[in-house]
Amino acid sequence: MKISITGANSSVGINLLSHLSQKDGIATTAGVRSESAFESLPQSASIKPAIIAYDDPESLHQALAGADCLIHLAGILIENKNSTYASANVAATAAAVKAAQDCNVKHIIFISVVGANADSRNAYFRSKGVGEELVLNSGIPATVLRTPILMGPGTAGANSLISAVSNGQTKVLGGGEYCMRPLDTDDLSQALAKLACGPAQDSHVYELVGPEPIAYRDLIKKAGKLMEREVEVGSVPILMAKLGAAITSTLKRGGITPTVIDVITLDEVVTENANEKIGISLTSLEDTLKKILASES
Ligand SMILES: NC(=O)c1ccc[n+]([C@@H]2O[C@H](COP(=O)([O-])OP(=O)(O)OC[C@H]3O[C@@H](n4cnc5c(N)ncnc54)[C@H](OP(=O)(O)O)[C@@H]3O)[C@@H](O)[C@H]2O)c1
Repeated sequence: MKISITGANSSVGINLLSHLSQKDGIATTAGVRSESAFESLPQSASIKPAIIAYDDPESLHQALAGADCLIHLAGILIENKNSTYASANVAATAAAVKAAQDCNVKHIIFISVVGANADSRNAYFRSKGVGEELVLNSGIPATVLRTPILMGPGTAGANSLISAVSNGQTKVLGGGEYCMRPLDTDDLSQALAKLACGPAQDSHVYELVGPEPIAYRDLIKKAGKLMEREVEVGSVPILMAKLGAAITSTLKRGGITPTVIDVITLDEVVTENANEKIGISLTSLEDTLKKILASES
C-alpha cells in the first residue's frame, strides 16, 4: 500500500506520519515545499520525503507516482502575504487533484472543516468548500473529512490554549462562549489511516469531531485545572476585535482578519459524528489535554 501526503510538515502531517510508520506494509511519500520542511519530518525507513511545488506538475507526479491514496493536507486558516485561501486552499488542491488524475491514484482524502461550503459568505469556509468540490468532482473516489479545531502537540489550537493557561490570565473573543468540539490529532490520524487502507469505491463527506462539546472559556478553565492553575478569563468584544483585525491585517497583508474571527467564534455543530462509521473510538477531552500538557513538560 502506498500513500502520498501533501502538506506533510503540517501539525496533522507530522502526527499522521508517525502513526503510518508504525503500521506494516505502508510506504509513505511525504510531500513538502521546502528543504527546511523536509528536515522537520520524522525519520523512518517507510517514509520517503519529496519536495513538491504546486506549480510544477512534474514534482507532483514524482510524489504521487504509484500511490494508492493521496491524503491532501496542505491548507491554511490564517493568510499571509505568500499564502492566500486562493493559493493554499484552492489552487494547491486543484494541482494535487490534477496530479492524482494523471497518476491514476485510486482514492483522495481531503481535510476540510466543519462549516465548509462553496457558497459561504465567509472566504475561508468558501475556499474549503471549493476545495471539497474539486476533490468530489475529480472522478476519483474521494473522502472529505470535515474537522473542528484540532488538538494535539504542535497544533495552533493547542499552542494558543497553552499560552492562555500559562499566563494565568487571558482575554478571549466574546468571553469564549462559543462551542467547540476539539478533535484529538491522534484520533484524526487513526481515521485517516483507516480510510486510506480501506476500500474506496464511492465518495463520502464525513464530519468528524471530538466527543465533547465545550465552550472555549470552559476549555481554558479545564486545561488550567489540569495544570493546577487558576486562569482568569476576560472578554474582548467581537466587534472591536474585528475592527482591530481589519486594520492590522490590511497593514500586515495577513494575520487575524474578521474572516478568521468569524471562523473561530462559530459554534462547531455537526449533524452526525462519523467516528462510528469510520470505526475509530474517540479520546476523551481530558486525556487529549493531558497528552498536550505532557508534551510541554
Ligand atoms: N489545525 C486545525 O485546527 C484545523 C482545523 C480544521 C481543518 N484543518 C485543516 O487540516 C489541514 C492541516 O492543518 P494544520 O493545522 O496541521 O496545518 P499547518 O500546521 O498550519 O500547516 C499548513 C500546511 O499547509 C501548507 N501550505 C501553506 N500555504 C500553502 C500554499 N500556498 N500552497 C501549498 N501548501 C501550503 C504548509 O506548507 P509550508 O510549511 O511549506 O508553508 C503546511 O504544510 C489543513 O488543510 C487545515 O486547513 C486544520
